Amino acid sequence: MASLKLSIVAGARPNFMKVAPVIRAARARGHEPILVHTGQHYDDRMSDSFFRDLDLPAPDHHLGVGSGSHADQTARVMLAFEPVLAETRPDWVVVVGDVNSTLACALVTVKLKTALGVRIAHVEAGLRSGDWRMPEEINRVLTDRVSDLLLTPSRDAHPNLAAEGIPGDRVRFVGNVMIDTLLHQLPRARVLDEPGRLGLEREGYAVATLHRPSNVDTPEALEAALAGLRAVAADLPLVLPLHPRTAKQVERFGFEGHLEGLVTLPPLGYRAMVSLLEGAALVLTDSGGLQEETTALGIPCVTLREQTERPITLTEGTNRMAPWPLTEEGILAAARTARQTGRRRAARVPEGWDGKAALRIVEELEGS
Ligand code: UD1
Repeated sequence: MASLKLSIVAGARPNFMKVAPVIRAARARGHEPILVHTGQHYDDRMSDSFFRDLDLPAPDHHLGVGSGSHADQTARVMLAFEPVLAETRPDWVVVVGDVNSTLACALVTVKLKTALGVRIAHVEAGLRSGDWRMPEEINRVLTDRVSDLLLTPSRDAHPNLAAEGIPGDRVRFVGNVMIDTLLHQLPRARVLDEPGRLGLEREGYAVATLHRPSNVDTPEALEAALAGLRAVAADLPLVLPLHPRTAKQVERFGFEGHLEGLVTLPPLGYRAMVSLLEGAALVLTDSGGLQEETTALGIPCVTLREQTERPITLTEGTNRMAPWPLTEEGILAAARTARQTGRRRAARVPEGWDGKAALRIVEELEGS
């Protein structure tokens, strides 16, 4: 098997755990991974700490784009990625997930496809929320449309792609690569004992995260979500690591008082977060990754969104949706029901969430 040159793109926090196992598997099979960090996330807590925790190699190319409006950020990734692509001439550009960097690099690549003979593989293809107000939904649909190889984390993604007219021979089920990282890091995460460090009793606390623009960008939405979390915290200590977007909005709306009674923390590193999750009685979140990680760990999860692009976590996992629109009473009721269900002891996870997705991804790249 000839060695493949793989340009692997990561930009924002949820990308780092998806590229780490792909890089490892590619190396193990004698390929040449080239890591491109767009710099969409740039500070220690949102980026560098993940490189340390996940044993990621230093990026071969750092595009340093930083924050900005969607147009500004997407355009800057495109401008910076084009010369890197032209210079490195990989066999494949591998993009993951649904952030602005994912779409920007896919778009640059498809325009240079004929000139450079490069192809695009999308890891985490086919997920759909059906909500076009979400920037991630736009990024997913457009990235899938221009990709040559669509690698899906769960079989429910396949009808979504078929409905959009994507030829089935481009689509392959490989399973969930996030779970590769979770299983790989779990023993080291446990050793950290983050709950103990915070003075929390195992299974005696809840963890929440909030960062979606729909939940944090208006005072009304943020007020309702935080009221729900405070109501849950009256029953059970609740830890809320604050995403920088959320921290910024709390300050902007003068909502510091709305955090009273919650244990707020800065964004956590990967292992610290997994350690905290693993000991939790309950998770409340608007993150996509946490819906999957809680299903893999058997921890009840309440999703604070109108819909989810990860319905398999509802049908086969431990996830449930909070009533929408979010209200204090709705969040509290969903949290109480979720707690009654309790943690799932026996491992029952969706197909392909087995720690071997990256190997299957590399095999598909080799065979396509
Ligand atoms: C992005 C992704 C989202 C993902 C999330 C995870 C898109 C459209 N959205 O949203 O899908 O779930 O990342 O975090 O790509 N900031 C920092 N430090 C950083 C990065 C950002 O302080 O390292 C602050 C900046 O003030 C910035 C804000 O966070 O304005 C939002 O960052 P941005 O990358 O625009 O979007 P996210 O909300 O993080």
